[in-house]
Amino acid sequence: MAYLGLARKWRPQTFDDLVGQSHIARTISNAIKTGRVSQGYLFTGTRGIGKTSAARIFAKAIRCQQTQEPGVPCNKCNDCTEISEGRSTDVLEIDGASNNGVDAVREIRENAKYLPSSGKHKIYIIDEVHMLTTAAFNALLKTLEEPPAHVVFVFATTDPQKIPATVLSRCQRFDFKRVSQKDLSGRLKHICEAEKVSINPDALAILAREAEGSMRDAVSLLDQILSVGGTKITLETVTEALGLVDKKTILDCVTGIIRRRPLDAVDAVGRVYLHGFDLKQFGREILRYIRQIMVARLLEENAGGTPVNLSAYMEMSDVDLDDMKELLHERSLDDLDMLFRMLNHGLEDVARSTIPKMVMDVLVMKMASTEEMIALSDLSGPDDLGGVGASGTGGGARAPGSGPQKKSAHSDQAPPLKAAAQPQQATPAAPVAPTRSRAAELIAAIEAPQPAPQAPASALSARAATNAPAPSITINAPKELHDASSWIKIVTAIKDQKPMVGSILEHLSFEGLVENGPLLVLTLGFVKDHSFYRDQLQSHAYTELLVQLLKNHLGRAVRLDYKEVLSSRSIEEVERQRRKQVDDQRRASVLESEAVKAAQQLLGARLERLDIQENA
Ligand SMILES: Nc1ncnc2c1ncn2[C@@H]1O[C@H](COP(=O)(O)OP(=O)(O)O)[C@@H](O)[C@H]1O
Ligand SMILES: [Mg+2]
Ligand SMILES: [Zn+2]
Repeated sequence: MAYLGLARKWRPQTFDDLVGQSHIARTISNAIKTGRVSQGYLFTGTRGIGKTSAARIFAKAIRCQQTQEPGVPCNKCNDCTEISEGRSTDVLEIDGASNNGVDAVREIRENAKYLPSSGKHKIYIIDEVHMLTTAAFNALLKTLEEPPAHVVFVFATTDPQKIPATVLSRCQRFDFKRVSQKDLSGRLKHICEAEKVSINPDALAILAREAEGSMRDAVSLLDQILSVGGTKITLETVTEALGLVDKKTILDCVTGIIRRRPLDAVDAVGRVYLHGFDLKQFGREILRYIRQIMVARLLEENAGGTPVNLSAYMEMSDVDLDDMKELLHERSLDDLDMLFRMLNHGLEDVARSTIPKMVMDVLVMKMASTEEMIALSDLSGPDDLGGVGASGTGGGARAPGSGPQKKSAHSDQAPPLKAAAQPQQATPAAPVAPTRSRAAELIAAIEAPQPAPQAPASALSARAATNAPAPSITINAPKELHDASSWIKIVTAIKDQKPMVGSILEHLSFEGLVENGPLLVLTLGFVKDHSFYRDQLQSHAYTELLVQLLKNHLGRAVRLDYKEVLSSRSIEEVERQRRKQVDDQRRASVLESEAVKAAQQLLGARLERLDIQENA
């Protein structure tokens, strides 16, 4: 494991010192102040964010004899120093990973019966408690059910799902959060100052970024850099030590891709390769950059035209932000989404390949050569093929007014075949029940057991023939929201109020709504490639807004849960499949049309390309 020099030295000693977990620190020190200490605590969260540190601070705070202020350990008395140094006989730290059997727990139970050697409390800190065997948990439960009055248990785990409900229900649970980049770099800066080290602000930002929310990783990285870089840390020291490509090369590559200059993009890859950097790491940097552009775009759209102070959200220096702004409006969000996916996918090939450089070259070339994305359905007249999707709202997750106007990718080339507008065999345009909203269409699509094998046009005209009335939409009653269809109504309503939030929601699937005490817990699913949307919603600003919107619609407080799903039935996905069906059908009808067949025969020609144009 990582060398712990600085990390150990800088272990927080008071709750004030514990960065980024103030919600927990406050609750626990209040409990101590008011003398309401429970006998079981569970600290959850990823590695290196302060669980063990908090457990020790807590132990000191309840045992310290010389404290001036309840809840705040003096860190000087015998008790405090013993606990800090891990040699107190009344505060026992047990590693659940290595002591995971029944015997270990029996020993704890035996030991717990005896009064503390001094003071009132005996504290057992069991780390990685999820590693205990079932038998060990059962043994533990006996003690937890009727703990001796002087005993307090603090369990820490990175994996709370693995802890039996019986144990969970006897503990007060605290979820530790990943530490934000701002807090990470703040702490690192503080440490550098105290250690009399000067560090370049960009270097600091990179360390904080690479730590991905773990304070221990951040401090360990700093330690690592200090061991090679002396007391003056430059940007180069950090990029070299971490094997990172410099920003200019990344920017050059992204610019090449976005501005459709394949050679520039390949050139950047060449430089990376020449310097012996890891191509996959480089690919991830490009991926990150495209994601940043998307975030910036979403922020802008959400602000509805008013200028956004991007630097408040983006954790980028002003110079870098200026560079990015140059690229911000060159591509539509759909395009960016496509580039992101291409790269995300392609990087797997790069990783697997024995000739990664070539694969990477081709990947960036392809990305830089993509045409603007056009959905065929956007090009067609409203009455084509029975007016599928012709409720006037249009498809896609695009917010109104976003991105450049879509245009035909080939509009400057030879005139396309004039076939799509009135294909002979196509179902005659059937009028669509005008009351059917897009939501209702989607509900029908989602509720269909499988993507309907028959053509959507005929399905629709059948519906039109029976003249089925549109289902009425009511949203307020919470018990109604138990299926995907109510979910669509809610998303549609949210989209009206907050287009961006609604658009993001369309990329997630409804996975269930359950009651949990006074709360409703809404689970949303995302496929791996779309974790971007989840991240988006999880950002602070969105979470608050979304929770509020949902509360308005459901009449109750809502907690959001996300889970990764293998295949998505998100609104967007269903819509995409529907559009694809329409396109496929339209293409098929063109290919089979008498006019095309005749032309082929007459000229001995082969159909090379098929473009469908509006009003052609
Ligand atoms: N919230 C935090 N504030 C300040 N330092 C932290 C924090 N979390 C972790 N650290 C640093 O990381 C080291 C390990 O933290 P620890 O409490 O053992 O994390 P965990 O138990 O969550 O894995 C600490 O000694 C400290 O240097
Ligand atoms: Mg720990
Ligand atoms: Zn003390």
